[in-house]
Amino acid sequence: MTTDFKIRSPLFISFEGIDGCGKTTQINLLKEFLIQNKCEVIVAREPGGTEISEQIRNILLHSKHKISPVSELLLFSAARSVLVQDLIKPALESGKIVICDRFFDSTLAYQAYGRGLDLEDVKQCNQLASNGLVPDLTFFLSVSLELSKRRMENKAQFDRFERAGDAFFNKVINGFEQIAKEEPNRVFKISSENPIQDVAQQIIEKIVSI
Ligand SMILES: Nc1ncnc2c1ncn2[C@@H]1O[C@H](COP(=O)(O)OP(=O)(O)OP(=O)(O)O)[C@@H](O)[C@H]1O
Ligand SMILES: [Mg+2]
Repeated sequence: MTTDFKIRSPLFISFEGIDGCGKTTQINLLKEFLIQNKCEVIVAREPGGTEISEQIRNILLHSKHKISPVSELLLFSAARSVLVQDLIKPALESGKIVICDRFFDSTLAYQAYGRGLDLEDVKQCNQLASNGLVPDLTFFLSVSLELSKRRMENKAQFDRFERAGDAFFNKVINGFEQIAKEEPNRVFKISSENPIQDVAQQIIEKIVSI
């Protein structure tokens, strides 16, 4: 890679993909790279990232009670709305780079493609919750369901979503594939079955090219 590059800011980058695809691994590497290159970086995770949103995260991931798909959609949206207003927008306005571990594409993939809610309803809800904010760049880290399950084998506890069956996850994977096809200028699919450093390199090359 060339050493003569400029990193645009503000910049809003999201990472998407099923559990175990490598989002957190790649976000940590990217954050390190950006800091080394004198960028101001904020990392947030969804659902979460603010006190209120983390409380909603706890309900969504760990509630013992049944949550209907619509309630799930609205809880994710409430958490996102607070995150956008209180953290992401102010950070972008002050020129920072914001990296989000999941954003509204996950809602489309899980709640619409996965749970079966109407695509247009979920898109409208996403638009409302994000207050029109769209990531400049989204990395869809793609792995097979088999590999994602192998990578998660050592996990001690599974959340509400991680306990869902293969049929659900295949629909979610198909959802991410559709989103990447529909928005090729924003969403970049990268095979996260390749070695960690190769994936990191592709991500950096994309970021310095925009
Ligand atoms: N490209 C890769 N090759 C091999 N192993 C990887 C790769 N990327 C990630 N891993 C490993 O897979 C596991 C899951 O990665 P990671 O926690 O980054 O995934 P995630 O997408 O953040 O998952 P979750 O959605 O559950 O938070 C980790 O043990 C990580 O080291
Ligand atoms: Mg993670």
